[in-house]
Amino acid sequence: MDYSGQAMADSILLAGISAPGANQGSTFSGAPPTWTPEVEDVTQQFTILIADGNNTSRYLLRSVLSAPNHRILECARATDAFAVLEKEKVDLIIVDLVLPEMSGPDFCRRLRCDRRTQLVPIIMITSAQGVENEIQGISSGADEFLTRPLSASVVRARVRAMLRHKAAIDTLEEAETILFALAQAIEQRDRYTGGHCERLAAYSVALARAIGLPGADQLALHRGGYLHDIGKVAIPDSILFKNGPLTSEEWRIMQTHTLRGEEICRHMKTLAPVLPIIRHHHERWDGSGYPDGLRGEDIPLLARILQLVDIYDALTTARPYKPAHSPAEALAVLEEEARRGWRDPELVGVFREISSGLFAPASAPIAQSLESMQRALTTETP
Ligand SMILES: [Fe+2]
Repeated sequence: MDYSGQAMADSILLAGISAPGANQGSTFSGAPPTWTPEVEDVTQQFTILIADGNNTSRYLLRSVLSAPNHRILECARATDAFAVLEKEKVDLIIVDLVLPEMSGPDFCRRLRCDRRTQLVPIIMITSAQGVENEIQGISSGADEFLTRPLSASVVRARVRAMLRHKAAIDTLEEAETILFALAQAIEQRDRYTGGHCERLAAYSVALARAIGLPGADQLALHRGGYLHDIGKVAIPDSILFKNGPLTSEEWRIMQTHTLRGEEICRHMKTLAPVLPIIRHHHERWDGSGYPDGLRGEDIPLLARILQLVDIYDALTTARPYKPAHSPAEALAVLEEEARRGWRDPELVGVFREISSGLFAPASAPIAQSLESMQRALTTETP
């Protein structure tokens, strides 16, 4: 760490960049304190992006925040910052209220509309006095608003607090990704076929778009494509892979995968929209399904959608015990089941209309698949 540079930056920051000399030394006397990072895990690396058109301001902030576990990126213009954010995973953004090309609040609003950056903490800094600026900054999505002259200690304290918060969010995201990977592994064991989760996610999103469902529902279906059978982790292999018909007791146990799956995912608040899909994807339109015997439109729409595409994919892929049906044969089966009262007939009709445009997506690592879906929704959903 460049302690001498940092100490100088402390003094200048205290003086205020826009008004050199003002308030100099007013916050502490004697030598400015050096900084020992107090984020709990000092081995964890954080990337901080400073977006500020003023070279001196960027230099001072970089000096104040210099620490072994901080990687600091700088941009003078908003377009450069967006280019960096396309390529880099950033943990904290510090932005000036006034940027070349774009105001700080407009910059914030754009970041908050992008799922990749909507949870990244933002500190907005300004030399302009007035509470209206603070209101404007916070309203645009900034988490903190600091007015020059800055206190180096306050800047560091705010940065520490926000990096702690960001680390907690990242931990949750990692836990979610592990759940998805587990669900994918279970599917591959059970179904003897790779790519099932990706196809379910893609087909169910296509059907949701065809009936005009909003992006949040599409995202829930995309996740449901991976997670709907995660409860099978609790089903014994002797039942899951049994050759031959299940006994009534075995069948009862098999059916519990819907409830076990809901239980596994229930603790993660971000998965709340997916829970009805997990619980109800084996209900039937006439009430003869499980676990709750719901009928008709009492069955959550997203569960009905996922169920259709799940059956379609099972029919159109080959298994060791059966060849693949053609799409036409699979649609005929779905229509027969609708006539029998098991499936939502209107939904089956829409699915027939879009089925010729379905395509199996290329298999991709789970994190990449989730990221690409979020990107798609970012660009396509108002
Ligand atoms: Fe299932």
